[in-house]
Amino acid sequence: MTQQNNSFWDRLMQKLTKSTPVEREHEVKLDHDFDGIEELNNPLPPWWSAGFIITVVISIFYVAFYFYYFYDANNNGKWQENEYQKEVAAHKAQIEAYKKTHGVVDESTVKVVKDAKSLAEGKAIFQKSCAMCHRADGGGNIGPNLTDNHWIYGCDPKSMYRIIYNGTSKGMQSFKNMSGEKIQKVISYILVDLQAHPAKDGKAPEGEVCNQG
Ligand code: HEC
Repeated sequence: MTQQNNSFWDRLMQKLTKSTPVEREHEVKLDHDFDGIEELNNPLPPWWSAGFIITVVISIFYVAFYFYYFYDANNNGKWQENEYQKEVAAHKAQIEAYKKTHGVVDESTVKVVKDAKSLAEGKAIFQKSCAMCHRADGGGNIGPNLTDNHWIYGCDPKSMYRIIYNGTSKGMQSFKNMSGEKIQKVISYILVDLQAHPAKDGKAPEGEVCNQG
């Protein structure tokens, strides 16, 4: 701390900062004088310059490394962007191919299926998951009557799919975990079987008459 203190730390600090001792400040003083605030022409501290040079050197290796690993000469040099697009396209193609061979059902492809096996499965699903609210014969309980020709949300398979999948804020449960095939079967059961057998003493009609139903 005193001028003559030449401890290891003092010498190290001096090496790292090259700061001018107070008694020699007049040697590096510049002509500037702003209302008594003066400027010293100190050199850049060596620790700072060294840090700067090190980052420049590292950046050279960094760029070289980047080119080596990510530059794709076969792809007009468009690197990850192209890689990414290629992979997305490949996966999308796989999904489409899968849908074609397996007939995956979703809101956009749902249709009424009329074979006995599907309708029987639809009935089983209805008894298990829907009957407690729509009654075993579809006549309605907490949920509306599904055997009349009145519908709140529409009688086409797509609208029904949307309601069954998402549920509603007025008590219709959402069935997000039910497969598209199962939803299609239960819709088919409602539209083919339940609609053909109006429930006796079912709930009063709700919604609009639907001419498709
Ligand atoms: C927790 C009770 C509950 C369960 C379980 C339930 N529903 Fe519903 N459902 C309702 C209610 C309540 C409504 C009326 C919702 C509204 O008005 O927003 C409804 C409405 C509907 C509608 C629309 C009817 C219309 O008039 O537009 C369909 C279709 C439907 N449910 C089918 C099903 C199917 C299929 C299942 C079984 C997979 C099922 N629901 C299970 C309570 C239920």
